[in-house]
Amino acid sequence: MTSLFVRACTRQEVERTPVWFMRQAGRYQPEYRKIRQRLGLLEICEMPDVCTEVTLLPVRQLGVDAAILFSDITVPIRAVGVDLSIVENVGPVVAEPFRSSGDLGRLRRLVPEEDEPYVARAVRQIVAELGDVPLIGFAGGPFTLASYLVEGGPSRSYRRLKGLMWQDAGLFHALLERLADLTVDHLTAQAAAGAAALQVFDSWIGCLSPGDYRRHVLPVMQDVFRRLQSLSVPTIYFGVETAGLLEAMAQSGADVIGVDWRVEIAEAARRIGPARAIQGNLDPALLLAPEGEIAQAARTIVRAMRGRRGHVFNLGHGVLPETPPQALRKLVEIVRQESQGA
Ligand code: CP3
Repeated sequence: MTSLFVRACTRQEVERTPVWFMRQAGRYQPEYRKIRQRLGLLEICEMPDVCTEVTLLPVRQLGVDAAILFSDITVPIRAVGVDLSIVENVGPVVAEPFRSSGDLGRLRRLVPEEDEPYVARAVRQIVAELGDVPLIGFAGGPFTLASYLVEGGPSRSYRRLKGLMWQDAGLFHALLERLADLTVDHLTAQAAAGAAALQVFDSWIGCLSPGDYRRHVLPVMQDVFRRLQSLSVPTIYFGVETAGLLEAMAQSGADVIGVDWRVEIAEAARRIGPARAIQGNLDPALLLAPEGEIAQAARTIVRAMRGRRGHVFNLGHGVLPETPPQALRKLVEIVRQESQGA
């Protein structure tokens, strides 16, 4: 029997709305914080036993309808030898940012079995322990990965990356194409090991105008999703602040479009069209609000998607570290109740 989550992703009939949360494993959990006292984030990703334990935590605690591999979008970049570290409360920092065509050579082709054997090993172990619950594999989108490589770390303006895009479109495209290979190869390895769906986190594409997105990024994403098709697992394409890009993202070829909370889900669904499923879109900060507020917002989303095939309930971005676990448990219950038998 195909899982509820995969059926929703492929716009089949479901008995209720499936729910999972981006960053459902992380610092909001006391158990995770305890593990992090002895191990670094990337160490956890490289140790299949610990990775399995961390990935399964939220499934057991919250009763979500899907697990997501505990990893990071920077894992395959490090696996091909780029010196990148994750700095606490800052994010990924690249020791020597990419600035010229000579830097392209630093991004060799990923060979998952050799460069990151722990990824497939963790996926296999997690899938074996999950039973009927599907596992989502993921990767960063080429543009979002490029943002760290070119800017050297997190950015607000992305002026270096955009500068490269406008001044040397050839080099920008060559960089995105190499990262597209990395994304596809990393995702293919996860699907081969048993991942039931694949999500591309292109978190920072919302910094682009629709015109620049269509011209410089969309063709690369169409290529990525076309190459993933043969894996026969549903694909999800997610970004933040994408209200201006939804029509274009719907043309990427992904089965599901993830949306944040800055657009009403009914409007997002209209603009994405009926041929794609939609995932989202509760404001993660709402989980710090009183329960009544959470319930009202969650019901509004479920009701707005009632009668539309293909909705996966999620937050509009990752769970915040300050979130009380109890609020997430309650939210799962509310989504179940509100969508059941409707
Ligand atoms: O969703 C899950 O439960 C899986 C875990 C996951 C992590 N990173 C672990 C992690 C996922 C899906 C990611 C994806 C990721 N990583 C994205 C795309 C999603 C998004 O948030 O937009 C991005 C942009 C990154 C890069 C990255 N890694 C950032 C910006 C940070 C935050 C830095 C900080 O300290 O706030 C990280 C670190 C990171 N990756 C943490 C976790 C749980 C933080 C906690 C820790 O260091 O233990």
